[in-house]
Amino acid sequence: MEIAIVGSGYVGLVTGVCLAEIGHDVTCIDVDKTKINKLKKGLVPIYEPGLDKLLVKNINNKRLKFSYSIKDGAQKATAIFIAVGTPSKKNGDADLTYVENVAREIAESMTDYKLVIEKSTVPAETGKKVAQTIRKYIPKKYRQGNKLLLDFDVASNPEFLREGSAVEDFMNPDRVVIGVESKRAEKLLREIYKPLKPKMVVTNINSAELIKHASNSFLATKISFINAISQICTILEADVLKVAEGMGYDRRIGRQFLNAGIGYGGSCFPKDVDAFIRLSEKSGYKFHLLEQVREINEQQKDAFLKLIEDKMWIVKNKTIGLLGLAFKPNTDDMRNAPSIDLIRALQKEGAQIKAYDPEAVENTRKMVEGVTFSKDPYALAKGCDCLLLVTEWEEFHDLNFEKIRDLMNHPVIFDGRNLYHDKKLDKIGFEYYGIGRPAV
Ligand code: UGA
Repeated sequence: MEIAIVGSGYVGLVTGVCLAEIGHDVTCIDVDKTKINKLKKGLVPIYEPGLDKLLVKNINNKRLKFSYSIKDGAQKATAIFIAVGTPSKKNGDADLTYVENVAREIAESMTDYKLVIEKSTVPAETGKKVAQTIRKYIPKKYRQGNKLLLDFDVASNPEFLREGSAVEDFMNPDRVVIGVESKRAEKLLREIYKPLKPKMVVTNINSAELIKHASNSFLATKISFINAISQICTILEADVLKVAEGMGYDRRIGRQFLNAGIGYGGSCFPKDVDAFIRLSEKSGYKFHLLEQVREINEQQKDAFLKLIEDKMWIVKNKTIGLLGLAFKPNTDDMRNAPSIDLIRALQKEGAQIKAYDPEAVENTRKMVEGVTFSKDPYALAKGCDCLLLVTEWEEFHDLNFEKIRDLMNHPVIFDGRNLYHDKKLDKIGFEYYGIGRPAV
């Protein structure tokens, strides 16, 4: 099928490249000319495992094209995905300005039937607004009084990709959710995803939009739940890892997303939880549970900081090294990364900050000042009074801890992800602190 994707960020680009890979003719569109020019040359502007290879492969076999203009890029397409950003406004509402602009431009350039699919995470009822916008902006030559001479459908097809494993997630989805209001839209969407043979959940547009909100909020709730448990574990000298294990074997609960840590970050959970709280409030329901989820997430970051301040006693003039900066492994994304809050708070106390991350240094440089970046974990450890394990990158799993101990001023590790819980670092002379674990 001829498909256009408007918005070539994480979601749009992965969707576009993967739809080309499964056999469609895809044009990825973005207003950012520098980005489009890079993409045309086969250069991926983000770090996402596997994406670069598929991009180049599908450019070469001519199934993947790029454009800066909706008019040029989307005119031939039968299906147009909207995958532009929906940032948070100050009050937590999703800002849908970009979605509206795209809907208007699609309408203005339409010459035949289009299926317009929302891929961005949007509040319920956005589908209706997109349809109204298209109806309003279809050019005069395609109108006879109130009657439109051009036909279109709007559908919702929320995305469940995780950064760092987005290509894998796209190719092997747990489910594909489509919200449709016509048989034709359903048929086209089924055809688009047919090569993946996925489990399809077919519903109306509002329900599809809610499935996305509910899924992300539920996962955020699971994380905040185990983070709250980790605080109780600290007080009672219990072990959150064993609690999570014991809970996780219950198939109704499951072990995934029960990793206590330093709070969830990224471009999705913080923004989506805010947006769902606002959406519920506006519809007349106060979602207190989600307000607590958000609060626990903030408290978790504060608790980690307090632990550091408590154990280091005076933070001023101490050198603190961050192992990892990205909000999770396998990405260079720094949006809402807990590391940024940590760096700022520790700098305020007068600490000297060093940091190492395999991919996220460039993006971090744009957000904080006064940080010394190291070339590897050992260069990082040199002269540090303590290390903070912030992101559980694969390459941090098996470090030479004897070497690290000898390079540090004082061998102290605050393990924000419980990555080294079974390494017995205390036995080789480290002061070791995990999250929600009995003191060693
Ligand atoms: C999340 C969802 O998992 C995707 O399904 C969804 O499509 C995406 O948001 C989105 O809405 O676009 P993502 O933000 O890429 O994906 O990453 P996750 O793997 O979900 O991690 C989010 C945050 O939660 C990270 O900061 C991670 O460290 C934290 N986390 C995750 C925990 O603290 N504990 C856990 O057990 C799991």
